Amino acid sequence: MNHAHRRASTPLVLALLTLAGPLAGCNRGGDPAFPENNLGRCIYVNRFSKAEECREYRGDDWTEDAARADCSEWTGELEVGELCEYDSILGACILEGGTEKVIRVVNPGDDPSDCRSTERGCELFGGGVFLGSAVCGGEDLDDIEDDSVVFQPPVLECRDPLEGEPAGASEGGKVCTWSMISACTEPGRRFQDYASCDMVLTQRPYFPVPSAPPPAEPDTRIDDDPAYAAELAWVTEQAEACACVCCHTSSITPMGAAVWDTEAAGNWINTFSPYGIAFAGGFLDSSLLGAYPASDNNGFDREITGMPTTDPDRLMEFFRKELIHRGFSPEDFADANPTPEIFHQQDIYEPGACAEGEGVAADGTVTWSGGNIRYLYILAEGSRNPGTPPNLDLPVGTLWRIDVPPDQSALRSGQVRYGQVPDNTSQRFPASGSAAPLISGTKYYIYAMADVAVPITRCIFTAP
Ligand code: HEC
Repeated sequence: MNHAHRRASTPLVLALLTLAGPLAGCNRGGDPAFPENNLGRCIYVNRFSKAEECREYRGDDWTEDAARADCSEWTGELEVGELCEYDSILGACILEGGTEKVIRVVNPGDDPSDCRSTERGCELFGGGVFLGSAVCGGEDLDDIEDDSVVFQPPVLECRDPLEGEPAGASEGGKVCTWSMISACTEPGRRFQDYASCDMVLTQRPYFPVPSAPPPAEPDTRIDDDPAYAAELAWVTEQAEACACVCCHTSSITPMGAAVWDTEAAGNWINTFSPYGIAFAGGFLDSSLLGAYPASDNNGFDREITGMPTTDPDRLMEFFRKELIHRGFSPEDFADANPTPEIFHQQDIYEPGACAEGEGVAADGTVTWSGGNIRYLYILAEGSRNPGTPPNLDLPVGTLWRIDVPPDQSALRSGQVRYGQVPDNTSQRFPASGSAAPLISGTKYYIYAMADVAVPITRCIFTAP
């Protein structure tokens, strides 16, 4: 086990979208030790799960300042000398186990249906080890429906243009738009008029995040520089055509924008952080978040820039100038990993050998560990790790893939036979016909996901 990262407590939301979000897919099993002595506790509501959590700062290496700083990151207040005490807990997540600077995150609760998502938040996204209480220790957890939000696969919707808008470019004058984070409607129209933000909100964690602090000096560029104002108007129009608005335009979001807000007062570009500017302009590699070909996305490309655009050079130039205006340059981001870090970690993950009870048995029974799943892949050994739709979720080397639609129950281990499509699931690969038979003695890669970007079993097995 390797816990090389420092900021270990990142829940799904943060992990998906910040640079710092670590992922260790390697910490299943094992009971980490945590030190007896405790500096204090921090109680707060986890922004993603919306559930109360309480962290204890255990071990000799914690200072009060460090604990206070960690706690305020979670919008809590350090209570020195206190322990996390509850009548009932789901369990506790141990971060940086085995050292003298351990965080023990206690998850209060008594509802076993919260166990899987809590465990996943800890292990897959936080890089910790989850120690379940009696509430979460039962053998029958897989029988309990996991009530976390399920990723809604993208759907292409064709609607009539709004009154007063010109005819659409599709058949019959319709406007066709994918309901997907990386998608856009026709330039000059607004995404929310032509697609479903409700669907988009399932595809990626949403929560409000305060914008970057305003500039020290008032920003007069809109008034002083007509050329700048014209470019800004174009960038705004580009952003407004795309699904980004579902979480980045405050009046459309359920609870407020996440960092950047196209409706912010003054010059809304100031609501981006420097990281956000680099991301939007394509100076950071965000390709792992997925992209449509421009020809299937109303002319919007997201291969080059982070924000989709009908003119990558023009958008890049705008954000390049913005970075320089802020005292940064594209070169500052040249060595950064592809972002978000969690997708990068999933992409470079190197599977080890399957444990007993993981893989495909002689009679075709497929088994995995870690709970029920919505996506199952059997791939040739050496295939790239499956990524996000629409363009990274069917790697070359996929032999068989089945999906569980969002309104159906997830599959249990042992419930599937290789090549046989269970009721209420759909075969994504091969597009038609049967999967190629596995060859005895050959190694294959099983990749089982609880949901998009939530792998729970990833390992190499030898076909019997
Ligand atoms: C379902 C919600 C959702 C959608 C849709 C969405 N984002 Fe975000 N985005 C977030 C959240 C939440 C954060 C904040 C993450 C954090 O602070 O940990 C964020 C942060 C960002 C940041 C970093 C901002 C900064 O300045 O630090 C960028 C850049 C970004 N998103 C770009 C995009 C683009 C481009 C699109 C559209 C292609 C998009 N996002 C669509 C939820 C979303």
